[in-house]
Amino acid sequence: MKTFSPLELALIEELSDGAWHSGAALGTKFSLSRTSIWKKINQLNRLGLEIKKKPQQGYQLAQPFIPLDEKAIQLALGATEAFDFHLGLSLDSTNRYLKDLAPNDKIAVCSAEQQTQGRGRFGRSWYSPFGENIYLSVRLNLDCCLNQLSGLSLVVSLAVIEALKAQAITGIEAKWPNDLLWQGKKLAGILLEIMGESHAYTQIIIGIGLNVNSQDLKIKVPDKDCCSLRELTGHYTNRNHLIAEILSVLQRYIETFLNQGFDGFYSEWQKVDHLQGKWVHLTSPRGMIQGIAQGVNSRGELCLLDDKGERHHITSGECSIGNQLKEGSSSPPPDP
Ligand code: BTN
Repeated sequence: MKTFSPLELALIEELSDGAWHSGAALGTKFSLSRTSIWKKINQLNRLGLEIKKKPQQGYQLAQPFIPLDEKAIQLALGATEAFDFHLGLSLDSTNRYLKDLAPNDKIAVCSAEQQTQGRGRFGRSWYSPFGENIYLSVRLNLDCCLNQLSGLSLVVSLAVIEALKAQAITGIEAKWPNDLLWQGKKLAGILLEIMGESHAYTQIIIGIGLNVNSQDLKIKVPDKDCCSLRELTGHYTNRNHLIAEILSVLQRYIETFLNQGFDGFYSEWQKVDHLQGKWVHLTSPRGMIQGIAQGVNSRGELCLLDDKGERHHITSGECSIGNQLKEGSSSPPPDP
């Protein structure tokens, strides 16, 4: 997998102060000609890193940028050999990468600076520009069967919320089954893919897309009402620290989940449940149901009370919040 070369990393480090650096100064620093520096900068630009150029002034990083770094993630994680890291510059999809990776005993983790075909739920694409956000996939070999995994995607949402809290980022809500929202806008999405299944052995890939440092999402992704941590905190976030935090909480939460099932997380979900008490339109392969969301049950299924007073327990689907429809009227536009 392609990664930055040591020279590229050193150049990025030099530029990371956000100041202008002349080709001559960079050349002296790295014992290279100005032309070689110019070529290297062009290469970085082609990879997707935006570096501004100005005659007389030289080069400047257009945005703050700290590259993904396995050592920094390991350092933040502390002494653990549980993970097998695969960090790259550009992949089609980190979930897809792990699907094709030979099995091993560790928890395989893949992240990339950019995804060219980032995948969302229901065949949608996931906005994955270079160097801005977290595109993280984790592959687990679980010693259990499929029906024990109900509620796992909710637990992943809770793990990401907890990891954000550890970084003093609060006020995030979870929208069943696996979106994270801030002030009603989508901050993160989770794509769970079940890979292999036998009697007591399941391989799953957890894909987490978290908007971290992207700006102007309203312009860049106009069809979705989404937001990033940058918008929320007002500052740049080091993705390596956040990835370490997510992995550490995720590992802990999955252990608890395997011992206690979703029951162990029931009260935590209630505190962040975005849909609770709202009128919800649920679209699933079995059709559309609408009703008042009444939380989840002990298996993590969404409880909907329809207008006939019938209660539904939903295992999968997509929810939008809307107004109660009268029979025969057309659907209101779904929320993001
Ligand atoms: C959704 O809300 O539709 C789920 C989005 C999941 C996106 C992540 S980014 C990392 C991983 N790789 C992918 O191709 N998709 C998931």
